[in-house]
Amino acid sequence: MKNIVLIGFMGSGKSTVGCRLAHRLGYKFVDTDYEIEQVTGLTVAQIFAKHGVKRFRGEEALLVSKLMHQQDLVIATGGGLVLRPENVAMLQQNGVLIGLKASARTICSRVRNKRTRPLLARGNLRENVERLLRERQAAYDVAEFSVDVDQLTPEEIVDIIYHYLKEKGYVR
Ligand code: S3P
Repeated sequence: MKNIVLIGFMGSGKSTVGCRLAHRLGYKFVDTDYEIEQVTGLTVAQIFAKHGVKRFRGEEALLVSKLMHQQDLVIATGGGLVLRPENVAMLQQNGVLIGLKASARTICSRVRNKRTRPLLARGNLRENVERLLRERQAAYDVAEFSVDVDQLTPEEIVDIIYHYLKEKGYVR
């Protein structure tokens, strides 16, 4: 069966929802940030600090090229992974892209104390989030189905995605 690929901004709940969805489907869960940390032996923040964003995006692309040959995965992607169209194309080959959409307000409340996200570590959080959301809107629009997560619990989001996947025949 196709992989289920969760895309969306930092703090939209991809990892939490992805882990629960994988459990529900009996699929393996893959979190791209976590995989990259395992492969490189560095945290995401360390990769950004030591080697820069380009290197991190390179690691993401390498990982995607491996994941595209696997199936029955739920993949929680890092928020910037879909910025490279070639990543999107590879993921679409054997995967269905599902978007999680959160407002700037929700995102800020969730990432406020998390300095683990280098792109939000400096400057005004709200301004940075709003700017990146604007810049990335088109990138997240590649999802074939999106859920507005602001008013929903993780369980409710999983339910909505699960029923969509069933209805479309993407899962057994
Ligand atoms: C990033 C999102 C992060 C992580 C890195 C860059 C981004 O992942 O990959 O800090 O560019 O949006 P999460 O979306 O899991 O926070």
